[in-house]
Amino acid sequence: MSANSILQELYAKGSRSLEILRKSAVTPHDVKILKQWGISDAAAMIGRTPQTLRNLEESGKIKAPQKIQNGKRIERVYSLKEINEIRELFKLRPSKPANTNPTMIGIVNFKGGVGKSFTSLTLSQSLALKGYKVLLIDGDSQGTSTHQGGGLIPDLHVKSDQTLLNVLIGESDEIANCIIKTHWDGLDLIPANLTLYNAEMIIPNQIYQHRQKTGEVLPFYTRLKNSVDKVASNYDVIIIDTPPSLGFITLNVLFSVNGLMIPLLPSEVDYCSTIQFLNMAQESLNRLPPIDYQFVRLLISRHKPSSMQAKTMEGAIRQVFGSSVMTNYMIETEAVSKASADMKTIYEVEPHPNDKKTFKRATDHANQVTEELELLLKMVWNSAEKISKTVTDYSEVS
Ligand SMILES: Nc1ncnc2c1ncn2[C@@H]1O[C@H](COP(=O)(O)OP(=O)(O)OP(=O)(O)O)[C@@H](O)[C@H]1O
Ligand SMILES: [Mg+2]
Repeated sequence: MSANSILQELYAKGSRSLEILRKSAVTPHDVKILKQWGISDAAAMIGRTPQTLRNLEESGKIKAPQKIQNGKRIERVYSLKEINEIRELFKLRPSKPANTNPTMIGIVNFKGGVGKSFTSLTLSQSLALKGYKVLLIDGDSQGTSTHQGGGLIPDLHVKSDQTLLNVLIGESDEIANCIIKTHWDGLDLIPANLTLYNAEMIIPNQIYQHRQKTGEVLPFYTRLKNSVDKVASNYDVIIIDTPPSLGFITLNVLFSVNGLMIPLLPSEVDYCSTIQFLNMAQESLNRLPPIDYQFVRLLISRHKPSSMQAKTMEGAIRQVFGSSVMTNYMIETEAVSKASADMKTIYEVEPHPNDKKTFKRATDHANQVTEELELLLKMVWNSAEKISKTVTDYSEVS
């Protein structure tokens, strides 16, 4: 059998199995739906008491949520959309200050398997749970964030022109058509599939042609930034998942973002390769026009704090990089594989009673990382707001 047909056959089998898995994860209407929250959880997410929600419902200020039978009891359940509507009614929905730009965060590291996609998805979903408006951009042709975040099989359900490809190769500077709504209220996605990888082959050719024609460097690195800027005002935070390489896609990301989050495993091998990544990233940025970052943070991911080796490595990382390391970390947990076996994330699963502890531990750690990031975002937004106010005051005086 030819090499090509062996691989083709394996691909066909694999695709069929993914389709079967997806069918079990979506509704009969072919969409993923997000779980709902009971009144106590919903009230806690909003920051009001369950009784307040009941009173508002009685007085007609909010519409009655769906009611479900739980044993003998009838319980109210709220969707994230309804929770966000109530947050808006109370002016409790968090957001960046009106006159500031959203924060764009690149989740980067050229080492594979360090948790870039898990971090991208987890931060996007946990910020959306808090009520922020988030755009998750899948910049990796493997499409992990597309698969797990959007419930889409990248090579079956995503068309090439829905990915960043056209923007990155300069065919278009319109990104709005690529944005899809996810089943999470407030969380949009730009998906990826394998065709995105073509950018890595087309761009160097374009650079060569441009130099031959004009003798100048093609500013390919501005393409993502220019197109994302056009939709940025719709969001509080934009999170970009990147491929395990420092190619032309990642360079566009490095040039576009305001901050970097660099996941790394607390192991010697990963530590060494992350240091190499830092060196290569700074060398690459050196060749581009200067830009500023508001923050760069290393995030210890897939941490096993009960392992002596991992704990020692964590200590070494913190000693070397100090406050550039996130205080909180992502824990290595079975919850991730259990959730992804159902094409879900740790926030989407209603765990079996035996798994409740595992899932709680996973989401607790993820929430702590998100809260630390939220503080960072608020600091960035406050200082941007102050600068914007000073500029306004100054222009009014002069
Ligand atoms: N905290 C965690 N606990 C357990 N497993 C995890 C955790 N984070 C990630 N994983 C698993 O580790 C693998 C790699 O994670 P992920 O895909 O997020 O890494 P990545 O850096 O995006 O990889 P790539 O470089 O290939 O894009 C996946 O199978 C994922 O499910
Ligand atoms: Mg990934």
